[in-house]
Amino acid sequence: MLFKQQALLRQKLFVLGSLAIGSLLYLVARVGSLDRLQPLCPIDGRFGPRSQDEIPLRALQFKRGLLHEFRKGNATKEQIRLHNLGQQLPKAIIIGVRKGGTRALLEMLNLHPAVVKASQEIHFFDNDENYAKGIEWYRKKMPFSYPHQITIEKSPAYFITEEVPERIYKMNSSIKLLIIVREPTTRAISDYTQVLEGKERKNKTYYKFEKLAIDPNTCEVNTKYKAVRTSIYTKHLERWLKYFPIEQFHIVDGDRLITEPLPELQLVEKFLNLPPRISQYNLYFNATRGFYCLRFNIVFNKCLAGSKGRIHPEVDTSVITKLRKFFHPFNQKFYQITGRTFNWP
Ligand code: A3P
Repeated sequence: MLFKQQALLRQKLFVLGSLAIGSLLYLVARVGSLDRLQPLCPIDGRFGPRSQDEIPLRALQFKRGLLHEFRKGNATKEQIRLHNLGQQLPKAIIIGVRKGGTRALLEMLNLHPAVVKASQEIHFFDNDENYAKGIEWYRKKMPFSYPHQITIEKSPAYFITEEVPERIYKMNSSIKLLIIVREPTTRAISDYTQVLEGKERKNKTYYKFEKLAIDPNTCEVNTKYKAVRTSIYTKHLERWLKYFPIEQFHIVDGDRLITEPLPELQLVEKFLNLPPRISQYNLYFNATRGFYCLRFNIVFNKCLAGSKGRIHPEVDTSVITKLRKFFHPFNQKFYQITGRTFNWP
């Protein structure tokens, strides 16, 4: 009899225990998957007030989920309305400089829950054909975002194209402009390397960098060579300053973004009036790539494509010295105008 009662009690305890463990497992699974699931309620309901100070880091995962789906074009009109989504014109543009680290900067800023990136370079302001399509065409190229988020696009050709400052000014005279620069000679070599790779892919031969960068007649720096001209940052910036005050620009140190990205990103957060949300957790050094890669959460992480971080060809040291000497006075002027000094030789 006593044995039977004990067996019954054990059976009851087993059932209760199983129920408790089952519930616990369900809760763990649900909480774990929440970040990856598309939420049923709009962002308001999940995250409370819209003040940017209150955007939690968790919004990162949310962004990867829902907005990613919408970006792929899977959103229905009802979903867009329900979530109060829209395609906003950019509040900030990375205008250049080509090979300065523009893609890394855009992708890293996109880690911020209040930032949404336009994935492709849109080339609206530098391409006459695109520009003729009008501002609505441009807006429709933007990703979906929530009203409290800001959209950022990057097209490095904007920095060096004559017509662009006026065109951007006409769209939004108070827009924030980001320029990421690298030591000018390194940037020029990186620019050359990209073109060289394109030629090699088409089985074409190409000149050596030295031949392009130095005028064979004068033995001086060839200022007609585009890779050289692009690195004369001050010349381009001066054109922009005819339309925008210097306060509307923020200069990012592209060399530091490679070695120590977080402090550079924190400066940008400040410039964009965003609460600091990007942390060291979001950036991890990948020894194989030799670069920092991005971590959205425990599930999503990514490195930039292999086309970023190419091995540069070796360049004659006398040519490097000549170029550095050439850029020196322009660099000094650039420091003076921007108030940001770099240790460029
Ligand atoms: P290199 O290919 O010369 O190394 P852009 O995106 O403007 O074309 O700039 C490309 C440069 O971004 C690369 O130049 C690379 O050095 C730099 N870069 C900065 N951070 C990077 C990162 N985390 N991953 C890969 N490349 C990065």
